[in-house]
Amino acid sequence: MADPAVELREVSKAFGGDRPALSKVSLQIGSGETVVLLGSSGSGKTTTLKTINRLVTPDSGEILVRGKSVGSWDPIDLRRQTGYVIQEVGLLPHLSVEDNIGLVPRLLGWTEQKRRERTLELLELVSLAPEAFAHKRPFELSGGQRQRVGVARALAADPPLLLMDEPFGALDPINRRKLQDEFRELRDRLNKTIVFVTHDVPEALRLAHRIGVMHEGKLLQLDSPRTVLERPADAFVRDLVRLDTKEAVLGS
Ligand SMILES: Nc1ncnc2c1ncn2[C@@H]1O[C@H](COP(=O)(O)OP(=O)(O)O)[C@@H](O)[C@H]1O
Ligand SMILES: [Mg+2]
Repeated sequence: MADPAVELREVSKAFGGDRPALSKVSLQIGSGETVVLLGSSGSGKTTTLKTINRLVTPDSGEILVRGKSVGSWDPIDLRRQTGYVIQEVGLLPHLSVEDNIGLVPRLLGWTEQKRRERTLELLELVSLAPEAFAHKRPFELSGGQRQRVGVARALAADPPLLLMDEPFGALDPINRRKLQDEFRELRDRLNKTIVFVTHDVPEALRLAHRIGVMHEGKLLQLDSPRTVLERPADAFVRDLVRLDTKEAVLGS
C-alpha cells in the first residue's frame, strides 16, 4: 500500500497477564479507509487503538501515523490529527453539549466565535437541532443523543484520523442500527481514515471497508467483509462470522 495513513509493524504489548495483550500486530490502513477491528472482549482491540494515539506504549514494534512514528509526533499535532470516541462517551457532566464539543478546539486556541460556528455545524451533522441541544447537559440526553455528541466532539477539529472504540455499544438495537446507517453516510461524505472497534459481527460487516479479526492479541485476518465471509483465514474466523451474518451484508 502506498502511503498508508496508519501503519503498525509487529506491535507487541504485555501487561503481565497470562498472555500478551498484543502479539506482533501488523497492519496498514489507507487514507480514507474504514478498518473495523472485530473480536471478543479481551482480544486486544482497545489496546491496538490506544497504541495509535499513544495512550499505550508498546513493548516492541512501531506505529506510524502518516509515515511518522507516533513517538516522534508533537503531542499537540497528534491530537489535532486524531479524534477519539470511547464507549462510555466520556462527556464532561458539568459542561454543556456545546462546551463538550468545543473541548479540543479550546485546547487548540480557537476563538469563541469559531468554536461556536463549528459546534452548530457539527450538531447539524449528527442530526441534533442546535437550538434544542447546544445548551443541554449530558444528563438531559438519551443514550443515542450522547453518542451523537461524542461523535461530534471527535470531529470538532476536523481530524483526518478517527479512532472509535465501540461507540454504539450501549445503544438499543433500533438506535444502534440508525447510528450505523448515519455513520456509513458520514464515512462516505467526510473521507476520514477510521479505525472502528466492535465485538458485533453484523456491525463490522456493515461499516467496514476491511475487517481486522482479532483473537488473543493476534490479528488473524484483515480483508473486505465479503472476503472474510467467503474466505475466512482459519476455522476461528469462519465460526465467528458464520452465524446469521450473510443477511447483514446482503441486506445493507
Ligand atoms: N491497563 C491494563 N492493565 C492490565 N491489563 C490490561 C490493561 N489493558 C488491557 N489489559 C489486558 O489486555 C488484554 C486485551 O485488552 P483490550 O485491548 O482492552 O481488549 P478488548 O478491547 O478487545 O476487549 C486483556 O486481557 C486485558 O485484560
Ligand atoms: Mg475494548
